[in-house]
Amino acid sequence: MKIIMLGAPGAGKGTQAKKIAEKYGIPHISTGDIFRANIKNGTELGRKAKEFMKQGLLVPDELTCDLVVDRISQPDTSKGYILDGFPRTIPQAEALTDALLERGEKIDYAIDVEVPDENIIRRMSGRRACLACGNTYHVENNAPKVEGICDACGEKLTLREDDKPETVKKRLSVYHAQTQPLIDYYRAAGALVEVDGTLDIEVLFNDITKILGA
Ligand code: AP5
Ligand code: MG
Repeated sequence: MKIIMLGAPGAGKGTQAKKIAEKYGIPHISTGDIFRANIKNGTELGRKAKEFMKQGLLVPDELTCDLVVDRISQPDTSKGYILDGFPRTIPQAEALTDALLERGEKIDYAIDVEVPDENIIRRMSGRRACLACGNTYHVENNAPKVEGICDACGEKLTLREDDKPETVKKRLSVYHAQTQPLIDYYRAAGALVEVDGTLDIEVLFNDITKILGA
């Protein structure tokens, strides 16, 4: 099963993608997590990506597309995968479609998690992220068992650098300009599923699993 998560920053893509990946036994591939791991490890890619991410801008397509096409060619993707945060521009979607076509494959579901902008700003200030394993929490809606510590791997949780309100506003405007057109792209491809991201995390997950099947 090949799935894409669409939706604004903070819509809950990562939260649902982790749960879907676990239930269906497929890898969760988040380009944001890959870039953040590269920044943490001080790689050349991380150095380049950081310049864009800290401003709330997209990392250029040429740094992103090959990385993902290579990742979805790894052996652990044989049963499928869930892409979270990619594609984010029409050229990225076209690069993915072309790479899949070459193998006679296609995306099965593009899940668009819909949340109004007003809710997003509130959510982001309460988010705490684990830069080690990519798990995400919220101080009120999804608190870790021990304050400030990741339930999954025990690392310290942090506030993401791009979660400051002014950067969130920039990310939202970039989303509307560059990523929202993908909703029509995947609707035309017959893969679009729209879900209500304002629902409680478990209720939404239940709705998504009904769509994906057991
Ligand atoms: P990325 O890491 O992908 O960030 P994003 O798309 O901005 O989305 P977020 O991770 O902020 O939100 P999310 O939808 O995953 O929400 P979450 O589950 O955490 O990208 C970061 C940056 O990297 C980009 O700005 C760009 O620079 C670069 N980048 C990445 N991919 C790229 C690409 N393909 N091309 C170019 N550049 C790229 O949830 C948010 C909060 O809400 C959490 O606190 C969570 O606990 C809470 N929450 C989740 N669901 C619910 C719910 N149902 N109810 C209440 N609270 C909830
Ligand atoms: Mg995320």
